[in-house]
Amino acid sequence: MLPFHNVVESDFIAVNNLIVDRLQSDVGLVENIGHYIVDAGGKRLRPLLVLLTARCLNYTSLDSSKPRHIDLAAVIEFIHTATLLHDDVVDVSALRRGRPTANAKWGNAPSVLVGDFLYSRAFQMLVEIGEMEIMKILSDTTNIISEGEVQQLANARDPSIDEARYLDVILKKTAALFQAAAEAMAVLADSTETQRRAMRVFGQHLGLAFQLIDDVLDYDGDTETLGKNVGDDLAEGKPTLPLIYAMRNSSQDKRALIETAITEGDVTQLEQIVAIVAESGGLQYTKEKAKTHAKEAEKTLNSLPDNRYRSTLIELAQFSVERAF
Ligand code: IPE
Ligand code: IPE
Ligand code: MG
Ligand code: MG
Ligand code: MG
Repeated sequence: MLPFHNVVESDFIAVNNLIVDRLQSDVGLVENIGHYIVDAGGKRLRPLLVLLTARCLNYTSLDSSKPRHIDLAAVIEFIHTATLLHDDVVDVSALRRGRPTANAKWGNAPSVLVGDFLYSRAFQMLVEIGEMEIMKILSDTTNIISEGEVQQLANARDPSIDEARYLDVILKKTAALFQAAAEAMAVLADSTETQRRAMRVFGQHLGLAFQLIDDVLDYDGDTETLGKNVGDDLAEGKPTLPLIYAMRNSSQDKRALIETAITEGDVTQLEQIVAIVAESGGLQYTKEKAKTHAKEAEKTLNSLPDNRYRSTLIELAQFSVERAF
């Protein structure tokens, strides 16, 4: 648990219990894989975003035996976990949350199918929440995430991808879910249009900052701390912002080296590429971009009630930039 989870501790515990509870399946392999990835934890930042938004907007459940913000937070984490199962197959990743990935342990087919189970479980729970507007936000979002992942796949091994196309991908594959989490909670809390918009924009900037740093950490991070292997992006020939910047701002021979590494998905020169990216200022540039988005996120909270939950949302935005995992 990160320090800011304590601010909504009892809610957070309820979400974690609900997540475990709703993994229930009569099919052994579904439960095994589901528990394997869920029990490894993860930062649980998206459910935290839901819970902080709920408290910040002073959400009170009409029926106290059915606190729907807890359900919504679990739904968001299920959708996130489904994307991770699928993403690790697509990215051929071997390590997640400090453990071998589900695809490394069981293979691609069960990972994809249990990902489908988690997506559909999330939608079963959304039906129980029973708000068509929230159903719309999350069905649109799930659709957009898939498009983002497919676009990224299409961009792989293409060194001509520019910053705008990169941003379009991360907006869809990552920022969309943060945005949806915050906005859906605002809808559940019957907030004003202004507050709903503020939460949506907050989530979007937070998500952009978060993915920008994820892409920095794939070059600059420590495997043990991250719980994921560094260098996975280069191995798949992914033109992320640190590389895109380095290509634009390095000498001809260094640029050629990066281009070849992207085209061939070649990690044998990872160390050298990391050095080129760092000396070009690519890591710094990407971090600065992330900082700008975190600041923008912070600014949008001005129209929200000034309470400790709002302060913690600001801390969450700062963490997304400063984090090492
Ligand atoms: C990983 O998300 C996927 C990205 C969008 C970068 P997290 O870093 O939030 O993963 P967990 O849930 O903490 O493992
Ligand atoms: C995550 O992007 C995108 C998702 C929507 C899952 P990455 O592929 O960079 O995430 P990690 O680094 O594997 O967690
Ligand atoms: Mg990945
Ligand atoms: Mg990926
Ligand atoms: Mg990554």
